[in-house]
Amino acid sequence: MTQNAKLVLEGKETDLAVTVGTEGEVGIDISALRAKTGAITLDPSFANTGACESAITYIDGERGILRYRGYDIADLAEYATFPEVCHLLIYGRLPTPPEREEFRTRLTRHSLVHEDMKKFFEGFPQTAHPMGILSAMIASLSAYYPEDDTHEEIDLNIIRLLAKAKTIAAFSYKKSIGQPFIYPQNDLTYLENFLTMMFAVPSEPYKVDEVVRSALNKLLILHADHEQNCSTTTVRVVGSGGANLFASISAGVSALWGPLHGGANQAVIEMLEVIRKDGSNYQKYVDLTKSKDSDFKLMGFGHRVYKNFDPRALILKQSADQVLSNLGVDDPLLEIAMRLEEVALADPYFVERKLYPNVDFYSGILYRAMGIPTDMFTVMFALGRLPGWIAHWLEQRNAPGARINRPRQIYTGETAREWVPLEDR
Ligand code: SDX
Repeated sequence: MTQNAKLVLEGKETDLAVTVGTEGEVGIDISALRAKTGAITLDPSFANTGACESAITYIDGERGILRYRGYDIADLAEYATFPEVCHLLIYGRLPTPPEREEFRTRLTRHSLVHEDMKKFFEGFPQTAHPMGILSAMIASLSAYYPEDDTHEEIDLNIIRLLAKAKTIAAFSYKKSIGQPFIYPQNDLTYLENFLTMMFAVPSEPYKVDEVVRSALNKLLILHADHEQNCSTTTVRVVGSGGANLFASISAGVSALWGPLHGGANQAVIEMLEVIRKDGSNYQKYVDLTKSKDSDFKLMGFGHRVYKNFDPRALILKQSADQVLSNLGVDDPLLEIAMRLEEVALADPYFVERKLYPNVDFYSGILYRAMGIPTDMFTVMFALGRLPGWIAHWLEQRNAPGARINRPRQIYTGETAREWVPLEDR
């Protein structure tokens, strides 16, 4: 592989260095382009632009490969626990048995939210979207755990965030249904605590359903990281300015909320409900997608990187059937989703554009089967993505020569013009 690229601009040739990653990806280094040529590159939405070098997650969109720190997503979803994947993404390796036990205990023991923060919930209307609550509450953690540059303090804040985010999420659910908050318990694991805080009621004992726990473990692992997606890039950009962990992650939560990104899992269920109410007329909605007069999109379909299949969607589709039958749930939306996928993938519009189901297409059906309400789906995505955001925030913070992220632009507005006094306008 050539070590240089040549750019010819206005007859002048410029050599540009080339970086090759461990999986053979080739990046043309343009960090000195403007100094050398006076020109910049232009790549709206960054579809062809590498923002950084990263050792956390590898995606091959053509071959449907997703690996966290080299481990294949199918193996992690099958064999790992979500806390193990958090450790892998953040610290770069799977924990040894003692490390696993210690990490798990720390995640449990830091689950409580400061009692004063409970008052914040009183200020939210019952109809507040839990993503708005999650973003606000995570940013507010910086008021209780101020930033400190020591490694120990940053590591403790990482544990606090991982541990408390699930408590905040469960509290936001209880707030939305007017039930009392259920406190985390030190004898429960991460997932047991979350499910108990979500679904237990003070008046009766609650037992975690193993099928639900296992399905949730898989869902959180599948969402744990995805390299430079919209919300992770947001976390890196905010963190590049030196903002603290809580402020940076709060920005990531807000970025994830959009329906084109993490908000898609909620939008998929809402779309499937519309199709169901409309007599499951799949072709009508596939045709609507193709119509230039409509901005209807098949939510849960398409991906910037995956152009053959999203390995996470495959895993979720395979487990959805099993989980729903184990739970004795007969959700017509699963059948509608599968038929819609069949109809869409037989249509040239989708085939030509390489549009396949992404991670959001089936995840909502599993969350529903577990009793999680639709407006909590993106919160579940955020809980899963937390270790990935943290790992990227840390990687950028520790990168040698890291600089504040500040892209350039091509100005297309008015050229210089004279001031016009009010009376002459
Ligand atoms: C996530 O980046 C990540 O890694 C994200 C994520 C992660 O783990 O962090 O994987 C999670 O966000 C998954 C994506 C969830 N979003 C959705 O399901 C929303 C629906 N999908 C689309 O909005 C779209 O596919 C995106 C946003 C996912 C990707 O958008 P791109 O890469 O900008 O693609 P595009 O909009 O340029 O689409 C290319 C063509 C267009 O048609 P033409 O203009 O060429 O005629 O495909 C069409 C689009 O109109 N198209 C769709 C479509 N998605 C793309 N047409 C109908 N339905 C769709 N869903």
